[in-house]
Amino acid sequence: MAAAPDRESWRPEAILGQLVVLRRHRPDNLRAFTRWYADPEIARLTRYQQAPLSTEEVQRFFYTRILGSDFLAMAIHVRDTDRLIGTCAFSQLDGDNGSTLYHITIGENDAWGKGYGTEATDLMLAHAFTRLALHRVALMVFEFNPRAIRSYEKCGFVVEGRARQAIVRDGRFWDEIHMSVLAEEWEARFRDRR
Ligand SMILES: CC(C)(COP(=O)(O)OP(=O)(O)OC[C@H]1O[C@@H](n2cnc3c(N)ncnc32)[C@H](O)[C@@H]1OP(=O)(O)O)[C@@H](O)C(=O)NCCC(=O)NCCS
Repeated sequence: MAAAPDRESWRPEAILGQLVVLRRHRPDNLRAFTRWYADPEIARLTRYQQAPLSTEEVQRFFYTRILGSDFLAMAIHVRDTDRLIGTCAFSQLDGDNGSTLYHITIGENDAWGKGYGTEATDLMLAHAFTRLALHRVALMVFEFNPRAIRSYEKCGFVVEGRARQAIVRDGRFWDEIHMSVLAEEWEARFRDRR
């Protein structure tokens, strides 16, 4: 494996896109997190449990994971206004196997459907496969979240399996869909786009 990246390569100050800029999280982003994760619709789309996170759970999540060193989390800002709209992250970074799990939440629901999430994911994949030299990025998404599935497909993720009827929501069972993208697939797409 390549040598461990230094802090700037690992978690850059900023990653610039056309629509969004990813920035390191700051402690005062906790206020936005607390608001986002109190939203029942965010809980419905992102959590196995029905209820939103409590304030204490959000604080623990924010300080141990988002600001911690075993997550690589970045804040999503709209590039033109610098408005903070969400968060995206890699967890379970596994250097031996070159793999990680990806997560994204645009917490401001008026920012959904404007291409921000897809671009943030594109930027994180570029980071994973270039600077971090990873081999595989995987994620899990609930079957009832077609906007997220479509966004991931646009970034090159493919369905590799499903945990059948793994989650109860809105009174019925749904599958948890497993998706991934491999470095060579991402590179081929990137070459095609140039
Ligand atoms: C999922 C999420 C990151 C996507 O980011 P986004 O900025 O809203 O999405 P984008 O605008 O980049 O792309 C959404 C795509 O889904 C499509 N879409 C939206 N609703 C859809 C639906 N009901 N069925 C099918 N496609 C849908 C859009 O048309 C767009 O595709 P297109 O560009 O080909 O037209 C964001 O909506 C979000 O964070 N949602 C709340 C939390 C969440 O669901 N997180 C993911 C958990 S796995």
